[in-house]
Amino acid sequence: ARIYETNKEGHLTIGGLDALDLADTFQTPVIVYDVAKIRNEAQEMHHAFQKRNLSYQIAYASKAFSCKAMVQLAEEEGLSLDVVSGGELHTALLAGFPTERIHFHGNNKSEAELKMAIEANIGCVVLDNHLEIQWLQSLCNEANATMNVLLRVTPGIEAHTHDYILTGQEDSKFGFDLQSGQANAAFEAVNASSRLCFKGLHCHIGSQIFEATGFTHAAEKLIALLSEWKVKYNQEAEVLNIGGGFGIRYTDEDTPMPIGLVLGEVLDYISSAVLERGLAMPEVWIEPGRSLVGEAATTLYTLGSRKDIPGIRTYVSVDGGMSDNLRPALYQAKYDAALAERPNAGADETVSIAGKCCETGDMLIWDVALPQSSAGDILAVPSTGAYGYSMANHYNRNPRPAVVFIENGEAFTAIRRETYEDLTQFDLTLRNYKKTET
Ligand code: LLP
Repeated sequence: ARIYETNKEGHLTIGGLDALDLADTFQTPVIVYDVAKIRNEAQEMHHAFQKRNLSYQIAYASKAFSCKAMVQLAEEEGLSLDVVSGGELHTALLAGFPTERIHFHGNNKSEAELKMAIEANIGCVVLDNHLEIQWLQSLCNEANATMNVLLRVTPGIEAHTHDYILTGQEDSKFGFDLQSGQANAAFEAVNASSRLCFKGLHCHIGSQIFEATGFTHAAEKLIALLSEWKVKYNQEAEVLNIGGGFGIRYTDEDTPMPIGLVLGEVLDYISSAVLERGLAMPEVWIEPGRSLVGEAATTLYTLGSRKDIPGIRTYVSVDGGMSDNLRPALYQAKYDAALAERPNAGADETVSIAGKCCETGDMLIWDVALPQSSAGDILAVPSTGAYGYSMANHYNRNPRPAVVFIENGEAFTAIRRETYEDLTQFDLTLRNYKKTET
């Protein structure tokens, strides 16, 4: 079982601060990041590359959690940034992120988004489809600009993870297909354009992956394609981007290897495969989201109502749910939980943690063993740092929670809690509507 960090009162601590105090100060639900954990993870990744003397970029996949403070943290840690929308790009620009280290992803970028990317002069666009090649080319013409591009290909790798977050298989909406020659056609289109500058290949095989083999198989396919292109087009790649997807620990069922080991295995494979094919060693880029931020955050909730169905189940409700963490409802994702007052105390009962949304599927955790609890107790759910806030929503008109960063024993608000005023600020009244009608 998980051992929680505690202070001398036996209370859960996050980044050294008492979780009960944090709940009191910031109210609940609140998502609390221990910033040192993010920095450590980033540094371990840097180390894996530097140890091998490789040229590289680590692009933080900001879809996992994006806000100004997070983008600034990524910059401080020497990361690049993967954005997948105008909104994420806007956030990066507002946060002052160095634009040459921004990479733009997505399977249906709009013309407006591509224009934003050109105007901001970002580092590269990861091209996903033919329409985008046309659009980017003509937008660059209009702006008299050029753009570095990677081509995203689907290597036909089936990584072992949940179907919805699996992305590298052939039957996927993302990228150019390898088998049918789409990737060659895309390369030819890029090569024919004086505006688009081919930098290399990209693939992403999926998410929450524990073994190196999925990545090495994908890299193998990409390297084989590059050696084909060397012969066919006399073209080598400056960049080999193997995407993100490194797994983290949500519960005891998850057993990820340290990131340095997984990455090390993948990087050693790439170096030898490239050498074997007689190719120049490209820069290796990765795009981790979950593994950088996932284990760094804990969500604090306040316990509320309880329903005992004798012989069947006890439901204990929290003041949040699928509105701040959609993952259990969407992927049957599993989480641990503990009482912040005595996180390591032995269990007295097995309960199921329900969210407060009006939906049967709004269950955060089925069957978790906890000490006896009562309304008002603070429940801590660890490993909520990735795809928690970023997929939060206003279902039932619940305001989104606050996000708090802790560093060096100090807590500060990274995203303030939404108010009811925030929630209704975009609503027009019937009177507004009638006015526009007449
Ligand atoms: N690069 C690309 C092209 C991606 O599509 C993704 C994730 C990443 C990088 C980052 O992957 P990561 O290192 O975070 O695994 N909402 C789901 C995860 C969706 C991932 C989508 N793409 C979840 O909550 O599990």
